[in-house]
Amino acid sequence: MVYESLPRTVRILLLGDPGVGKTSLILSLVTEEFTEHVPSKAEEITIPADVTPEQVPTNIVDICVAEQSLEQVAEEIEKAHVICIVFSVDKQETLSKIASYWLPFVRDNCPDDLRKPVILVGNKIDLIDYSVIDNIWDIAEEYPEVDRCIECSAKTLTNVSEMFYNAQKAVLHPINPIYSIDEQE
Ligand code: GTP
Repeated sequence: MVYESLPRTVRILLLGDPGVGKTSLILSLVTEEFTEHVPSKAEEITIPADVTPEQVPTNIVDICVAEQSLEQVAEEIEKAHVICIVFSVDKQETLSKIASYWLPFVRDNCPDDLRKPVILVGNKIDLIDYSVIDNIWDIAEEYPEVDRCIECSAKTLTNVSEMFYNAQKAVLHPINPIYSIDEQE
């Protein structure tokens, strides 16, 4: 059995429907405060190793479907080590799109034998007073590449750094070691 060697940098890609708060999450992480007006797409950000919990340089990449072609988004999926699919907990349709659109799209752009870990991120928990996590277990069961689900808020900064830390961990300490199917026997 041959294991994928662990990368020396971690590249985290944020995907998800427009308006779910991808750019806000990145900017809240970096500035440690919430800004109401954010650009449509954050510049690629590199977090130096010494300020990450796992001591590994980490690139964070935003997408904006209104500004990028599907080919460009697909290229970003190919380059990423881990994908955070963000939905907005107050908008059921953004959660539905995870199983109907985003997870299949990610699979289509990853080789079958090297599925990339996915973190499901329910943003904007400041807007509701209940948890939506129970609606996610079925998705996680159907798509084993889902490493974990996390609820957070870019506005109150709740779980924002935890979300990025969990993405790092999914790459550096995979729960299911990723190996090539050809090498299994
Ligand atoms: P696109 O650029 O269209 O892909 O959107 P996006 O996913 O990057 O979302 P963006 O960060 O632009 O946020 C969309 C709106 O949601 C903005 O008005 C944000 O201020 C708001 N928003 C983002 N995160 C939160 C949050 O945690 N809570 C609340 N209440 N609003 C948020």
